[in-house]
Amino acid sequence: MILVTGGAGYIGSHTCIELLAAGYEIAVLDDYSNSRPEAVKRVQEIAGKTFPVYEGDVRDEALLDKIFKAHDISCIIHFAGLKAVGESVSIPVEYYDNNLNSSLALCKAMKKHNTTRLIFSSSATVYKDGNPMPLDEESDTGCTNPYGWTKYMSEQIFTDAAKANEGWTIALLRYFNPIGAHASGKIGEDPKGIPNNLMPFITQTAIGKIDKLQVFGDDYDTPDGTGVRDYIHVVDLAKGHVAAVAFCEAQSGVHAINLGTGNGTSVLEMVQAFEKVTGVSVPRQIVARRPGDIATCYASCAKAERLLGWKAEKTLEDMVKDSWFWQNSNPNGYEE
Ligand code: NAD
Ligand code: UFG
Repeated sequence: MILVTGGAGYIGSHTCIELLAAGYEIAVLDDYSNSRPEAVKRVQEIAGKTFPVYEGDVRDEALLDKIFKAHDISCIIHFAGLKAVGESVSIPVEYYDNNLNSSLALCKAMKKHNTTRLIFSSSATVYKDGNPMPLDEESDTGCTNPYGWTKYMSEQIFTDAAKANEGWTIALLRYFNPIGAHASGKIGEDPKGIPNNLMPFITQTAIGKIDKLQVFGDDYDTPDGTGVRDYIHVVDLAKGHVAAVAFCEAQSGVHAINLGTGNGTSVLEMVQAFEKVTGVSVPRQIVARRPGDIATCYASCAKAERLLGWKAEKTLEDMVKDSWFWQNSNPNGYEE
């Protein structure tokens, strides 16, 4: 059985569906601090299968003990964590506490219960600014905010633990910018409060919840002056995890792997793609750069293709279409 921490969240819920479709048995552990039980319910509906769900904190070692005793956990996919870059600057201690202590608690549980495989949600944010593009796994690392450091330090924790425990296999999956939603329109990204990321801002502007999209800077050294990112469809990302589970069954050691598409898209290109696909206009205004943003960030995905036999397949149009379908079908997210 695979233990999915943070399985009620945005990427976790999509991954649960792909794991179940691939025939894996799963259990979910989530404290619903940034998600709702409704997401898990919908995963079960889409998959036509049920699975054990534990409400609680990954840092709760007694709860982990209970879960590992109740099930034969062969692999952990560790999504749970706090993820808002700006918030991490305001409440760094909460970020270090949640994200690092959950990694440590899982290492202890793995050792105690002889689980040898773990897949960790890392991020492109571990790469230092100033690297040549595309970023490959050998690019220089280093962070500019507490959230990024929690990913960087968790990678180090898992790497050292794997060195000390023979037979452990760790995949450090460095995601680029996940967007999109399941094609059913039943699950998707449901940010609480004001969104942090571009796509929810676009869809909430298009639906009229937000007056105008603020484009953070048009004076970057990019073709149209706006920031360029590597957006990846969340279902492709989810399938990357299924490939990583199989990879970890066959390999040992620690492997950092980028999951992106290898394509860069600017903010204005994304807005134009959205307007073209949906026929809905997105009022926008250019404002100052957002502190901490970089001009360009996109991945080399050669290693993922080589090691996992995985490659993103969905297009920018798919990402936009599915994000819009989700937003339109659920104007208030999972809220009743
Ligand atoms: P999300 O917030 O939707 O999902 C995280 C889930 O973890 C939530 O359901 C939340 O309730 C749960 N959680 C948080 N702390 C917990 C704890 N201590 N115990 C139990 N559950 C806990 O976020 P997401 O976008 O699905 O991201 C999943 C992972 O991927 C995170 O680790 C995130 O840092 C990482 N990541 C996300 C992005 C992105 O842009 N979405 C990019 C790179 C990396
Ligand atoms: N942007 C806007 N207006 C908005 C929101 C974003 O112009 O309202 C721009 C940003 O300036 C940037 C691009 O859209 O150029 C993408 O911004 P996001 O906030 O969607 O994504 P980031 O690349 O800044 O950050 C994301 C995740 C981080 C993760 C990082 C690298 O939010 O957690 O990707 O993987 F660390």
